[in-house]
Amino acid sequence: MKTVFSGIQPSGLVHLGNLLGAINNWVKLSNDESKNYFCIVDLHSLTAMPDKTSLKTSIRDTLKVLMASGINMKNSVIYVQSDLKEHAYLSWILSNFCQVGELQRMTQFKEKSNSFGTHSGLLTYPILMAADILIHKANEVPVGDDQTQHLELTRNIADRFNNNYGDIFPIPEKTSGKSGARLMSLRHPENKMSKSSDDINGTIYFNDSKDSIIKKFKSSVTDSQNEIKYDLESKPGISNLIEIYSAINATELKETEKQFQDFRYGDFKLAVAETVINYLEPIAEKFEEISDSEVDSAVENNLKLAKVSAELTISEIETALGID
Ligand code: AMP
Ligand code: TRP
Repeated sequence: MKTVFSGIQPSGLVHLGNLLGAINNWVKLSNDESKNYFCIVDLHSLTAMPDKTSLKTSIRDTLKVLMASGINMKNSVIYVQSDLKEHAYLSWILSNFCQVGELQRMTQFKEKSNSFGTHSGLLTYPILMAADILIHKANEVPVGDDQTQHLELTRNIADRFNNNYGDIFPIPEKTSGKSGARLMSLRHPENKMSKSSDDINGTIYFNDSKDSIIKKFKSSVTDSQNEIKYDLESKPGISNLIEIYSAINATELKETEKQFQDFRYGDFKLAVAETVINYLEPIAEKFEEISDSEVDSAVENNLKLAKVSAELTISEIETALGID
């Protein structure tokens, strides 16, 4: 049976990029025959030095969004990274299978080291990510396109460990949907949609009101032509809207293009807004219904399962390394 692992940082409100780029695929995979681990990676979010109170709220809210998103909880283990100390332990072990130069070449490291200064947590972040994935011997990692490079590094680390100490880790594969793996800001379509953007009007949050969603789409940046065509180079704004519509409706980009070929930009924007409203509404409603105690008890039970799996892998690794 295959094993799936993925993580999300509790660094703010979950947005449409998280949902269409990653969580939608978690929902699909959780209904397959697989073991699924979905983790709130709070240790990763420490790299941005979050405020203590907002981190606590964000951890619980992100857990609630996962529970509200349609993930099959019977088939999935949802837990918080810092509750399972083995992640950090394995990260240390794996750091011996990774070159400093490789870490320095990571695009996210280069981007983030400018804004937060360069502490070593930012540099070694991808090793912790490799530990997350490998601790449950995951075969599949459903993530957005911004994680491709980190996953490639994880594969290299796993391969080097195996070559030196025996075949312990499967080499994990990245899974993405046909569309939605890289949503861009509605206001600055050259930048990706993110939780903490300078212009919050470019990001659709899972619990935005209907009015706010319409407003954000109406003011989305497009181009001066009037052609609904997918062309990332010269029409990044319109391409992003086509991408969003296609990801939610599970249609091909070409099909969406054809469906709206006679629409004016204003009407197309409203059609995309309506699709997004219908998609987010049940998630936001379910989110409100989930109590804190429901989250806490689900996480407590799940953690026990995650711990059993992590301890098994760690004991195998310690034996392979001669530190058992
Ligand atoms: P993060 O919020 O950075 O922890 O990301 C959680 C998941 O959402 C990861 O799998 C990311 O690749 C994915 N993701 C984040 N932003 C986007 C985006 N703009 N478009 C598509 N996927 C995204
Ligand atoms: N680096 C990922 C991000 O910023 C989050 C993450 C941490 C992750 N560990 C992971 C994703 C393991 C997939 C698997 O989005």
